Amino acid sequence: MHTSTQPMDWSDSLLVGHAGMDCEHQAFMHCVNAMLTAGDAHFSEALQAMAEHLAEHFALEERLIDEHRFPAGACHAEEHAKVRASVREVQALVAAGDIEIGRELAQALIDWFPGHAEQMDSALATWVARKTLGGAPVVLRRDLRALAPSA
Ligand SMILES: [Fe+2]
Ligand SMILES: [Fe+2]
Repeated sequence: MHTSTQPMDWSDSLLVGHAGMDCEHQAFMHCVNAMLTAGDAHFSEALQAMAEHLAEHFALEERLIDEHRFPAGACHAEEHAKVRASVREVQALVAAGDIEIGRELAQALIDWFPGHAEQMDSALATWVARKTLGGAPVVLRRDLRALAPSA
């Protein structure tokens, strides 16, 4: 059985207004899409790349949480820890030959990400901007419809 999963598309609605976090979020999208397109022989490499990406991505956010004493930081870091634990668990299963569960993880990450970015990450970005700039971040979202070729 092979689950068919649509690649994750970038949408500027995912921008949180912190350059470092926005950059990590685009990297997340590339890693998750690489998991979707990897053949079975290369799947564990794609999963390893995701694990390494998440370590960096979450470390950046957790550093911001600590540095700026973000009040909801414990809850945010706890969600990261759950994702890290699932990835580790799935890595062991994939290493034992269960590639399908790795593909299910890619789908689960795609489902999880927008909610986390829109709530927890964007709240953190707003907090950091208030602490450092004295205001909410200005997020310039392109009008994606304007960029689409006209039919
Ligand atoms: Fe994030
Ligand atoms: Fe986060």
